[in-house]
Amino acid sequence: MIPFLDLKAQYRQLKPEIDAAISRAVDSTQFVLGPEVEAFEERFASYCNVRHCVAVNSGTSALHLALLAAGIGPGDEVITVSMTFVATTAAILLTGAKPVFVDVDPVTWTMNPSLIEAAITRRTRAIVPVHLHGLMAEMDEIMEIARRHNLTVIEDAAQAHGAEYKGRRAGSIGDLGCFSFYPGKNLGAYGEGGAVVSNCSKFARRISLLRDWGQESKYNHVVQGYNYRMDGIQGAVLDVKMNHIEAWTEARRSVASYYDQLLEKHRCRRPVPPAHSRHVYHVYAVGLAQRDAAQKALQAAGIGFGIHYPVPVHLQKAYADLGYGTGDLPITELLANQLLSLPIYAELRQEQVGEVVKELEKAVLAESASFDPRFAQRRLAG
Ligand SMILES: Cc1ncc(COP(=O)(O)O)c(C=O)c1O
Repeated sequence: MIPFLDLKAQYRQLKPEIDAAISRAVDSTQFVLGPEVEAFEERFASYCNVRHCVAVNSGTSALHLALLAAGIGPGDEVITVSMTFVATTAAILLTGAKPVFVDVDPVTWTMNPSLIEAAITRRTRAIVPVHLHGLMAEMDEIMEIARRHNLTVIEDAAQAHGAEYKGRRAGSIGDLGCFSFYPGKNLGAYGEGGAVVSNCSKFARRISLLRDWGQESKYNHVVQGYNYRMDGIQGAVLDVKMNHIEAWTEARRSVASYYDQLLEKHRCRRPVPPAHSRHVYHVYAVGLAQRDAAQKALQAAGIGFGIHYPVPVHLQKAYADLGYGTGDLPITELLANQLLSLPIYAELRQEQVGEVVKELEKAVLAESASFDPRFAQRRLAG
């Protein structure tokens, strides 16, 4: 049995530290915000190499407040991708703005910068690239287009804690960066959590107000806000985990590199990080034309897997009103049909990676010639 994700293995390793931190938070009865959260905010800002971090109660809230702080609202358009978790789109809709999707690059699976300009209209106000699976989008090109058109860039870094692009950390390149600390994330709370990071003190101040009912001081509400505050216990747990995030990230990168090594001969579609990127492998997905057969084989062998994501946002019933249909985003749709996420976490051992690949080999990889990603790219381009 190899689970897709093993949160218990991490807890076993950290139990004394985590239990002490939770106990400390409970003893202090500082259940909402407070010193544990502040300590974490300071450490996470420094980890992302930014001046400010404002902790909130989820990644979705982080995106919602980042968009509001940037002044996004009804009548505005925000360019993003459909190759993401629905929260990216949902947060844009929460502001009253309209999400506009561009397709992803067939090699990196992140926003294709060459498609952005065609999507810009006089209503466009912001771009939200998603650092999918832990690989940062091509930020130089995105920032250059945004600056030329006077657009705000909000990085959806929910899956990319510690990822780097040309030596710069996720969240530190755009005007604002948003993180999720959902338990299964590379940095996971023991409940819900999120944060917005920024170098701009005006944005940070605005987000601090908005997360706490717009209160400047108790019962003095200067803007209409929300209850998006982080729990004290989550701050305490996350602060403990900051001691380990780099070691876990390097362990994930080793697991990914072992998958790469074993899968290389099959030439199946797999993550191809550009040389200037540090991929943090929140997800390690492979593209398989016979994904159903692969799923059945893994299931029979007791190996966990995931699909991120089986139906892209633009084809979800809930977002049908946006007016997209099948064929509008061909690369996104191809990836949604083919990607299969394999087990990856810091504690996963090499022999377990070997077992996963062996099962895939038995089931589907024998016919690997048809999986050549370059073939798929040419076909799609044509
Ligand atoms: C890319 C992306 N954006 C946003 C979110 C939303 O984060 P949360 O679940 O913490 O609200 C998630 C995670 O679930 C995500 O993966």
